[in-house]
Amino acid sequence: MDDKSKSLKRLLTGIRPTGPLHLGHYVGALKQWIPLQDEYECFFLIADIQALTTHAENPGLIVQAVEDVVLDWVSVGLDPTRSNVHFVLQSEVRELTELTVYLGMVTPFTWMERNPTIREERKHLKKSATVGFMTYVVSQAADILFVSHDPNQVKSSILVPVGEDQAPHLRDNNRIASAFNKLYGPTFNRCNALIGDVGRLVGVDGQAKMSKSAGNAINLKDDPETVKNLVMGMFTDPKRTSADVPGTVEDNPVFIYHDAFNTNVEEVADLKDRYKKGKVGDVEVKKKLIVALESFLEPIRARRADAKKNLDTMDVLSSGTARARELAAATVERTRSAMHLMRLP
Ligand code: TRP
Repeated sequence: MDDKSKSLKRLLTGIRPTGPLHLGHYVGALKQWIPLQDEYECFFLIADIQALTTHAENPGLIVQAVEDVVLDWVSVGLDPTRSNVHFVLQSEVRELTELTVYLGMVTPFTWMERNPTIREERKHLKKSATVGFMTYVVSQAADILFVSHDPNQVKSSILVPVGEDQAPHLRDNNRIASAFNKLYGPTFNRCNALIGDVGRLVGVDGQAKMSKSAGNAINLKDDPETVKNLVMGMFTDPKRTSADVPGTVEDNPVFIYHDAFNTNVEEVADLKDRYKKGKVGDVEVKKKLIVALESFLEPIRARRADAKKNLDTMDVLSSGTARARELAAATVERTRSAMHLMRLP
């Protein structure tokens, strides 16, 4: 990496590799990462250890998903061939497991129990929560804080662009950083959350959140036939038994998607107008949505196919991870010495 890239402000964000990425990931997070590549040294983390907090019994699925995430990221325009953009495999940054232990010493367990995202996710676990699950927020703090500059040398903060469900984790990250700095002196920068404007995208079934586990997702890599079927089966206004019944546009998934993906603003306004008056059928609204989604997805599929042919995903991960380890090793050393851990000759 050239010297210019090294002096850039730093950004870190991540994703759990549990399957291919979908439209919800795109509007909630990915979309806003792309322009940031022009301004920051970027660490895009594939959090395979964190994926084990919910998928420990299915490690094979994680391996497949790591490959998918790399290709999905490239397909939407992240560019790991730039010297300032690094794709990082969490489990291979061994220093992170060490940093997690150190940070755990200043983190009250009650913070984990009270974290709203943890509470919500815990409800959906099929078994009782593991130690790894209950403390993954500490591990996520290590993921973020390893890219800290030495606060004695550089006053800076780490930018973390994420979906809104991650906000509690970033708050805890900063509480952990502050608790550590207060006890042991300035060691970590704080992070700044950058939350996506769409928040979360509803699923095609009208459920609050698009997710792979709910089976209500349109994946970035889905083929046109799959997309068509998902849209034609999409949940709309249930009160509308025929095309001449006036419909509700607010909170209606088809219109949420039109707003998010249809760049033809007049067409969307016209469809909404006619929908409210009972002058358009669901089928027309859906067909126009399919056209809009296709013009969004087609270039993404093309870039994915190209990457699949021309990009060595393991190579990309190795070089990104090497840069991450360089920083993580320095951070671990700073952390150990702040904590007065001894160094044997
Ligand atoms: N918790 C994030 C998710 O579920 C993934 C993640 C792991 C992450 N480490 C991170 C996000 C660090 C931001 C920063 O998608």
